[in-house]
Amino acid sequence: MKTAIAPSPTGLEQVVACETRLSHVDGEKGQLWLRGLSLEQAVNRLDWQGLIGLLWQDLCPIPTQAEFGLGRAQAFEQLAPFWPHLQNLKAFEALRAGLDLLPGEPQACDLLSASQVLLAGWLRLQSGQSPLRPTPENEAVTDFGRMITGKTPDSSWVQALTCYWISVSDHGLNASTFAARVIASTRSDLRSAVLGALGALKGPLHGGAPGPVLDMLDAIGSPERARPWLEAELAAGQRLMGFGHRIYRVRDPRADVLRQALQAWQNNPTNHNNTRLALARSVESVALEILAAHKPERKLETNVEFYTALLLESLGFEREVFTPLFALGRLVGWAAHVSEQNLYGRLIRPQSRYIGPPAEDAGQGV
Ligand code: ACO
Repeated sequence: MKTAIAPSPTGLEQVVACETRLSHVDGEKGQLWLRGLSLEQAVNRLDWQGLIGLLWQDLCPIPTQAEFGLGRAQAFEQLAPFWPHLQNLKAFEALRAGLDLLPGEPQACDLLSASQVLLAGWLRLQSGQSPLRPTPENEAVTDFGRMITGKTPDSSWVQALTCYWISVSDHGLNASTFAARVIASTRSDLRSAVLGALGALKGPLHGGAPGPVLDMLDAIGSPERARPWLEAELAAGQRLMGFGHRIYRVRDPRADVLRQALQAWQNNPTNHNNTRLALARSVESVALEILAAHKPERKLETNVEFYTALLLESLGFEREVFTPLFALGRLVGWAAHVSEQNLYGRLIRPQSRYIGPPAEDAGQGV
């Protein structure tokens, strides 16, 4: 007897797989809500602590600034023996391995604090310097910047990075969050869910795109080369990084928020002067025109990764750490989703439709 299974659209498109109080993505209107705040309200009203308070309320213990500071100090001690090993890994692998090496059963605050210590320490080691001990009384984003350079960062740098982390903190049931919830649904631990989510985030169709956005801008080089370069890419069957989204059929609202953050940061006379923005704006407009002609039936607009790349580069980060930086923001959302899954969810276990060869004994009556 055949089992009736409704065919699922490829890639689970439009399938509602869980309920959440955390965020809502309206793909038709181009809006993102974080617990009832629009993204624009969230970036205007919240700092790092405020983001934690918003997403973790009723779900995870909300650490104070001092508790986060103690979390960084503890992580620094715990990770100290492992720097010789971690420094030889790529940034993403160092983050993943470092989280796996933490003793005990780390909770959300421990994982978040350790991630900041790990990435800052790894960056120091790459420039031939020793990792810097955290200053526990500092605000978390400020201390992250100080642990990288040894200097207290400018408040506009802190504001821009905080804006980035708020923008990417949560985004409905994206692939990495789904991975985290699947793992949590088996009653596994938070660290395992975060490590699984990291694996999903790494891919270029998800969080791995911003580095390649800069590769693309490097390859194009000047505005007049944009059209032939982009057309050749599409003709070769390549996807243009930083464009298209599974849910948004209009512009990703995070792209605009990050473009504004970039402009605000670049208006500050003390910062790095990034000359890429003008090139990026012309590449973006040509790409949108070409994509509209290439796929008229599928609206392909600018996504979050395009301006992520420009903002993070302008803040002084190398492209290799773009995806780990994304992870540090999204970890806030992953931790909240894991708690939500644990509180209200059931084992996530969909079915597959078997399309392999029939059983050898089929029809032989045995
Ligand atoms: N450039 C060129 N063509 C594209 C692009 C793109 N950026 N995005 C989608 N398409 C095409 C696909 O090739 C496909 O064409 P086909 O029907 O001829 O095969 C069609 O549009 C539909 O694409 P899907 O793969 O069905 O779209 P999906 O919803 O699965 O993909 C995704 C969304 C993965 C983001 C896609 O747009 C993409 O690959 N973009 C480039 C990578 C990128 O920017 N990733 C970051 C995403 S944002 C984030 O996750 C944080």
